[in-house]
Amino acid sequence: MEQRSTWATRSGFILAAVGSAIGLGNIWRFPYTAFDNGGGAFLIPYFFALITAGIPILIMEFHLGHRLRGSAPLTFSKLGNLEWFGWWQTFIAFVISVYYSVIIGWAFAYTFFAVGQSWGEDTGAFLYKYLGLTNSAGETLGWSDFSFMGGLQWSVVIPLIIVWAIVYFVLSRGVAKGIEKANKFFMPVLLILVILMAIRGITLEGAAQGLNALFTPDWSGITNPATWVAAYGQVFFSLSIAFAIMITYSSYLPKKSDINNNAFITAFANSGFSMIAGVAVFSAIGFMAHQQNVAVEDVAAGGVGLAFAVFPQILNEMPLGNVVGILFFVSLIFAGLSSLISIVETFIAGFADKFNMERQKSVNISVGIVALLSLLFATKAGLYLLDTVDYFINSYGVAMSGLFMTVIVGWILNRTQEIREYNNRISDIRIGGWWNFFVIVLTPAVLGYMGIKQIMKDMAENYSGYPDSLIAIGWAVAVFAVVFGFYFQSLKSKNPDFGKKVAKEDEAA
Ligand code: ALA
Repeated sequence: MEQRSTWATRSGFILAAVGSAIGLGNIWRFPYTAFDNGGGAFLIPYFFALITAGIPILIMEFHLGHRLRGSAPLTFSKLGNLEWFGWWQTFIAFVISVYYSVIIGWAFAYTFFAVGQSWGEDTGAFLYKYLGLTNSAGETLGWSDFSFMGGLQWSVVIPLIIVWAIVYFVLSRGVAKGIEKANKFFMPVLLILVILMAIRGITLEGAAQGLNALFTPDWSGITNPATWVAAYGQVFFSLSIAFAIMITYSSYLPKKSDINNNAFITAFANSGFSMIAGVAVFSAIGFMAHQQNVAVEDVAAGGVGLAFAVFPQILNEMPLGNVVGILFFVSLIFAGLSSLISIVETFIAGFADKFNMERQKSVNISVGIVALLSLLFATKAGLYLLDTVDYFINSYGVAMSGLFMTVIVGWILNRTQEIREYNNRISDIRIGGWWNFFVIVLTPAVLGYMGIKQIMKDMAENYSGYPDSLIAIGWAVAVFAVVFGFYFQSLKSKNPDFGKKVAKEDEAA
């Protein structure tokens, strides 16, 4: 069996963890989610979720990976014959990687469009045309208008191939020489890019209007359960927790490592970055509102629309718009790639551990399968599929896996006290009893309540008003993730470490 890889330096691990956390979620998802949920009103649940759930779970994941030195399936197998749970998390990562790669592919194409602003005046229509969602008369088609999903959209397929080629190259070079080196390049450049964008943003006329919309507290939203669901979802997705990533990354830590400090640094770097990206995007939106003499609410649109339709429209009006456009889409690519690498590493490590496979073979198989599947999202109806799968895998994958993890560690295995003592022995910062309370009581209670609310909502109405066939796919992906977990646990492993619960005293100290 190959020896487990390790990070070459502590800063290399931190940069990789930060690189995983900072992703499309920060530059594209955070600003709009914050705005949509009442701006300043969102920031209160956001920080609450970060401090009571995000950081505590990150500390737990860093502990588990480092202590048990395994991919998520191996870690949970050693922890208590719970291999299925590790596979469930890994399958969630697998599904996310399939469509996440496609969004990075769009960003590649848009970097080129930004040079000559070839999206023209009607940026929304241009986006739909680019994705293949319109007919020859320029009308937008619905999911049901397509058979075989409308076939491949080559303008999406070609950049997607480039994305997978880069990911394959980095991952083939291994943990220290590939992932660590790539992040040492991506992260500093990314920081410079967003700082430049933020400076450009705040020096625009009307910037204050956008920043006020983002940061002025709107207390009316705070009693709305949907705001809390959005905040927890954002924190989990953004910190890359509850889908196998941070367990895998910390399994490459050397024995002498700090856990608590690393977790705080990762979490604060991630949130700090979200704030800078929020400033950059919302000052630009404020500028647009000022130009058109409309309210900020009338400029901002959700999700895909914000980065790929609204932002190009703003760039059309902005002095130096093409330079800022290139900065923006290149930062989406860099942030996205460093996260995608971490997402794919979860199943590379999982397969290598379970089937005693050489790393390179696992890279070939993993990237091969996932790249082929991603073509489904590069079809003409790909956007509908993407939106649905993203919603279901986040609501019933990431959030539920977070709930299960706190219940398993805190209640079933009763490990929190011991984890805290161990972490405090090896870390600079000591964590107090609050950590046990957040993991055992508060987070499971909030996530449990949110889960019930979410199911009731999704039973009552189809997400986004989509047709039943699309919703059925969403449910199938969420349910299959768990089935897949049990199936993989049932497969025999050649690795003697599997299926053997490790006694606490035998765990790596
Ligand atoms: N943490 C990654 C992001 O925010 C997945 O995009």
